[in-house]
Amino acid sequence: MADAVGNKAAHEYYLDVPVKKTPFYAKGLNNTDWGMKDRLSRIFQPQSGNTVMLAFDHGYFQGPTAGLERLDVVIENICDHADVLMATRGALRSCISPTHNKAVCLRATHDMSVLFEDLSTGSGFSVDIEDAIRMNASAIAMQCFVGAAGERDSLENLCRAADLGYKYGIPVLGVTAVGKEMARNARYFSLACRILAENGASFVKTYYCDDFEKVVASCPVPIVIAGGKKLPEDEALEMAYRAIASGANGVDMGRNVFQSEHPVEMLLAIRKVVHEGFNGKQAYEYFLDSINK
Ligand code: R5P
Repeated sequence: MADAVGNKAAHEYYLDVPVKKTPFYAKGLNNTDWGMKDRLSRIFQPQSGNTVMLAFDHGYFQGPTAGLERLDVVIENICDHADVLMATRGALRSCISPTHNKAVCLRATHDMSVLFEDLSTGSGFSVDIEDAIRMNASAIAMQCFVGAAGERDSLENLCRAADLGYKYGIPVLGVTAVGKEMARNARYFSLACRILAENGASFVKTYYCDDFEKVVASCPVPIVIAGGKKLPEDEALEMAYRAIASGANGVDMGRNVFQSEHPVEMLLAIRKVVHEGFNGKQAYEYFLDSINK
């Protein structure tokens, strides 16, 4: 307790300074608690409102994915250039130093492995909320199978995660899964994103598609796009640009970063699009300049 003897009398009340009534900048999340907003601010950077997430959670069902054979070598060398690390607790604890002090989006579901034909039968909720708190997670990610066999179970898990997330102030990222038979168009992604948001996801991850502005417009919370399979760098940057120009609030890219021959330069170019308003062409020129230095 502060010393009670010899205190100066309070006198400066800034009576001419109005109290700020600034709404929270992330779409649809104004009515959440302080702790939730604090975590969201580690994800969506307050200066741009957007985020660059680095996804390297592929091993949770794929095993050693090309480019991720050694997380301790590959990700350790590039992760300082991302805002958020999207990974499993196993990968983080075993391979990534906590001293990077990056926001963590903890994958909190497990699926069938790639050894099975149909991966859309449903996810299990695989992380205890106490462990997510122990990992200092800024968000937990829940895979959801809208329109596939696993729909009901995965939405139940999402709802349970949202309950726990609201209880402890941890945002839930709803991840729209795409199965072999599922359409990848604005109609489907609008449906899936909206369902995840209405069931409690604080933000949603989906894939870029034509008419993406309609997907964004009908989703009441921020959307980040997944990268998908490796594309040439100019195409990946153009996709990121189109997503941001359509209203997405960030990217959660994996293979287009860690499978690039120049992952650091690729991440830095993505940052230019997401945080600094570069278009795809400008970002690709920046990428080429960076690798030729
Ligand atoms: C997939 O297993 C994970 O959910 C990834 O986080 C997601 O697919 C994003 O990675 P990529 O950009 O490689 O598609």
